[in-house]
Amino acid sequence: MANSKKRTEFVCTSCHNVTAKWEGQCRGCSAWNTIIEQNDSGRYGWLNNESSAAVHLAEASTEELPRLALSSSEVNRVLGGGIVPGSLVLLAGDPGIGKSTLLLQIAAEVARSHSCVFYVTGEESVSQVKMRADRLAIEGQDLYILTQTNVEEVLARLDEQLPALAVIDSIQTMYDPSLSSQAGNVSQIRECARRLLEWGKANDVPIILTGHVTKGGDIAGPRLLEHMVDAALYMEGDPVSSWRLLRAVKNRFGSTNEVGVLEMTGTGLRDVADPSESFLLDRPAGAMGSIVVPVLEGNRALLVEIQALTAPSTIPTPRRIATGYDSHRLLLVCSVAMRTCGIPLADYDVIVNVTGGLKITEPAADLGVALAIASSFRSVPMPDDVAAVGEVGLSGEIRRAPQTDRRVKEAVRLGFRKCLVPGNTDDRADGTEALHYQRVDTLAQAINMCLPITRRISDAVA
Ligand code: TYD
Ligand code: MG
Repeated sequence: MANSKKRTEFVCTSCHNVTAKWEGQCRGCSAWNTIIEQNDSGRYGWLNNESSAAVHLAEASTEELPRLALSSSEVNRVLGGGIVPGSLVLLAGDPGIGKSTLLLQIAAEVARSHSCVFYVTGEESVSQVKMRADRLAIEGQDLYILTQTNVEEVLARLDEQLPALAVIDSIQTMYDPSLSSQAGNVSQIRECARRLLEWGKANDVPIILTGHVTKGGDIAGPRLLEHMVDAALYMEGDPVSSWRLLRAVKNRFGSTNEVGVLEMTGTGLRDVADPSESFLLDRPAGAMGSIVVPVLEGNRALLVEIQALTAPSTIPTPRRIATGYDSHRLLLVCSVAMRTCGIPLADYDVIVNVTGGLKITEPAADLGVALAIASSFRSVPMPDDVAAVGEVGLSGEIRRAPQTDRRVKEAVRLGFRKCLVPGNTDDRADGTEALHYQRVDTLAQAINMCLPITRRISDAVA
């Protein structure tokens, strides 16, 4: 299998120009640092299909591939129903987010329910893995730990045992000795992934790779592998909170709109049965500056709490700080609230926080953020049974949010009576959602409706 006499060439990742030696600037397209080393074995394609004949589409089988189903319905949901034999799956995420924990749990489960599983680690020693396994109460029958970073050695061991599943933790630590570059280098990552892919497809063994996302850059990381793997999953979450989102950004065997919600506990990752309910568990009743917003994560509507605090600033340029929400949108919302609703935030710091460590990327949360800010500023709590969804436009208008009915349904399910929605939201044909719609056309209208100044608590006390 080892073939150290393979011809090596250098290819530009931008224009595919090929050279015999590495150069800093590509002669083909003049781009800098785009040239990577590549063995001739891996130039095009990674399926072993040299001899396969064309199949008539009408005669092609639509047979469902048998999958290794897992007990975690959240992980199954993201994978599209389980692990497909021979598939290559990438699990990417920040260091420390819980990738190794999840994969050790999956590996142990497959080892228990099928046959032997190989867990290859290039990052930790066997005793470190054992300590984690003890914490997860994994006995480890039929689970083999291999501490190895040489991909040829890994493939040789896999060849000997043909496991039901192989885990490679992480792809950045693997190296192919026939390449001169170091482990973690772009060409090493690609070549190692390609060889594992070829082996997995040839032997029908699924392989899960982990990959670290580098802060900002992610150049030598998982992005590079996305086009190669069958499924790319990202694990996200704030390390200080226990919630973890598992998101499919690519899936050849399922939907990419699926999101799984897991919780990191003292004994590993667990499914969260009702995420919306869990996210709202700690929400104090009648708190000022707090509102519930139904956000969309893939196909799923989830209720999250947004909190805001306004406080007189002690510095000449007041701060706008957002955690879990886009800071540019926070600036926009503050400016619109000042200009169109007469809320004088110019001398106030504004702090916005999405609880539970979730990150909201959609503008549909704008209305909720604006109401939370106004609630804090006016010292008036939002009515407890009202949620809000809508994008705030620059002239203070509330714009339509995608899939409003699905969001409202989730809010109603958890006991919210009304949900503020953009004025031009379509009614549902059956009329049920419309019962719970409270239409608002402008931000000023929404604020005056929910947070009237006369209800100010300080006034009531005085
Ligand atoms: P880990 O799986 O090592 O992260 P990654 O492989 O993505 O780098 O997870 C590390 C964190 O998870 C670490 O901070 C400890 C925590 N943890 C728990 O909270 N509970 C557990 O049962 C385990 C095993 C880890
Ligand atoms: Mg790890």
